[in-house]
Amino acid sequence: MKLAVVGSGYVGLVAGACLAELGHDVLLVDNDSEKMAMLLRGEIPIHEQYLPELISRNRLHGRLRFSDSIAKAVQCSSVIFIAVGTPALVNGAPDLSYVEAVASAVAEHVGDFKVIVEKSTVPVLTHKEIGKVMMLNGAPPESFEVVSNPEFLREGTAVLDFLFPDRIVVGADGERGASLLKELYEPLTSGTYYAQPDAVPRPSYFSGKARLLVTSAKSAELIKHASNSFLAMKISFINAVANICEAVGADVQEVCQGIGSDSRIGERFLRPGIGYGGSCFPKDLLAFRLVAEECGLEFGLLNEVIKLNEYQRDRFVRKVRSALWNVKGKKIAALGLAFKGGTDDIRESPAIAIVKALCNEGAEVVVFDPEAMERARCVLQDRVKYAANPYEACAGAHAMVVLTDWHEFAELDLALIRRTLRHPIVIDGRNVFSREQMLAAGLHYYSVGRPTVLPSAASQTDAQGTAQEILRQIRSAEQLSNLPA
Ligand code: UGA
Repeated sequence: MKLAVVGSGYVGLVAGACLAELGHDVLLVDNDSEKMAMLLRGEIPIHEQYLPELISRNRLHGRLRFSDSIAKAVQCSSVIFIAVGTPALVNGAPDLSYVEAVASAVAEHVGDFKVIVEKSTVPVLTHKEIGKVMMLNGAPPESFEVVSNPEFLREGTAVLDFLFPDRIVVGADGERGASLLKELYEPLTSGTYYAQPDAVPRPSYFSGKARLLVTSAKSAELIKHASNSFLAMKISFINAVANICEAVGADVQEVCQGIGSDSRIGERFLRPGIGYGGSCFPKDLLAFRLVAEECGLEFGLLNEVIKLNEYQRDRFVRKVRSALWNVKGKKIAALGLAFKGGTDDIRESPAIAIVKALCNEGAEVVVFDPEAMERARCVLQDRVKYAANPYEACAGAHAMVVLTDWHEFAELDLALIRRTLRHPIVIDGRNVFSREQMLAAGLHYYSVGRPTVLPSAASQTDAQGTAQEILRQIRSAEQLSNLPA
C-alpha cells in the first residue's frame, strides 16, 4: 500500500519506518529541511532501539523515502498519517495548529479517495475538526475519511511496541477507512510479519498475533487519553503508597508484589520513584482534564494524580536535604537526566527539575547520563559540571543521587563508588539498587518506599581508600567499561 506520514518526529519516524518494514511504500514528509537533510545523510535524530537498522534497510529496498512536499505525498498515497506535534499551550490545551495546517495542505491536493489517519495525540472530537478543515479547504466530503489510530509507543521500546503491540486501535466511522487500515496492519494481525526470517526478534512477552480493535473515531481518541491517564494514575497511586511505607517502615516492593499479583491490578507501572515525566503523560493529563471540563464534568482524580506527581519531586529534594543536613556548598553526584532509562529525552524530566532544585539550594551538582548529556547541556548549561562516567561524577561528592532508571547504574561497582564518594551516602529516586547490595557495600542508602539502610560505624572507616588508590580503581573501572562486548 502507498502511504504518506506527515511529521518526522518521534511518532512519525517510528511509524514510518515500521510501516515500511511491513512492506508498504512510505513517503515521510516534514517541512524541517534540516531534519530531512539529516535523515537523507542516514543520521537518526532520536535514540531508539532497532530504528537505525529499520530505516537503513527499508531505504535500501526503496520502501522508505523522504520528502518536504505534502503535495507529492498526497498525490501518490491512499493513506495519509498526520503525525505532527501537539505541544501543550500555556492553558494546558494541546496546540492543534500543526494538525490543522497539515489537514488544510492535504485538502488542497486530494484527488481520488484518501484516508486521513490521526496519529498525533489529540483530544476527542478532533477528527470532526479535521474533516471540517478539509472541506473548508476544498476537499469534497466523499473524497476522504478521517480515522483515528492512536499510538501506544513508549520511548526506548517504540519499535517493539509498534511491531508487537498489545492492541491496535482503529477508530473509523466508515467502512472504507476501517477496511483500509485493517489491510495495512494485516502482516501483524495475521502474524505473517513474525514468520519472516529477517523480522525484528519477537520479545518474550509477545505471543501470537496482534489484536486489532475497531471502534468509533471518538472512542479511539478517548482510548488514548484515558490509557495515558490511567497509567499515570497507577504511578501516582504507588508513589502515595510508597510514602506511607516510608512512614511506617514497610517495604513498597513487597507491597507491589502483593497488590500486583492480583490479575485485576497487574504489576506493571507500579514502580515508585520521583514521579512520571516525558513528553506524553504530563501533557496528556492536562489535556484530558480540559476535555472533562469542556464536557461540564469535574475529573478531580486527574488533579490528584498531577498533584501527587509534583509532590514526589519535592519530597525527593527533601530527602536529599534530610540525608545531607545542609545542601548548600555540598557536592552532589546526580546520575541520570533523561525522563526514564533507555532514552535521551529530557522533556519534562523529573531528573532535570531535581537537579535545578539542588542547584537553587546552593549545591555543586556534577551530572552524568549515558545518553542525555548533550540535550541536558542546552538547559542546564554551566549551572552544573558534566562527568564522563558515574565514578568521575562521584569523586569527592558528599552524596550520589540516582534520578533515572538506567540499567547501567544497577551494575555499578558499589565498593568503588563508596571509596570514591567523600561521604558514603546514596539517595536513590528510582529504587535501582537492592538494600542488601547497599548494606554489603557499606553505604547509607535512602530509596523510595523502603526502609533506610544505615551500616554500622565500624564498616564506615575500613573501606575509606587513599586518594591514589581511588584514582587507580576509577581508571581500571573505566578500562573495564571500554572493553569490547
Ligand atoms: C507513554 C505511554 O507508556 C505510551 O503507551 C504512550 O504511547 C506514550 O506515553 C505516548 O503517549 O506517546 P513514554 O512517555 O515513552 O510512554 O514513557 P513511559 O514508559 O510510559 O514512562 C513515563 C514516565 O513514567 C517516565 O518518567 C517513567 O520513569 C515513569 N514511570 C513509569 C514510573 O515512574 N513508574 C512506572 O512504574 C512506570
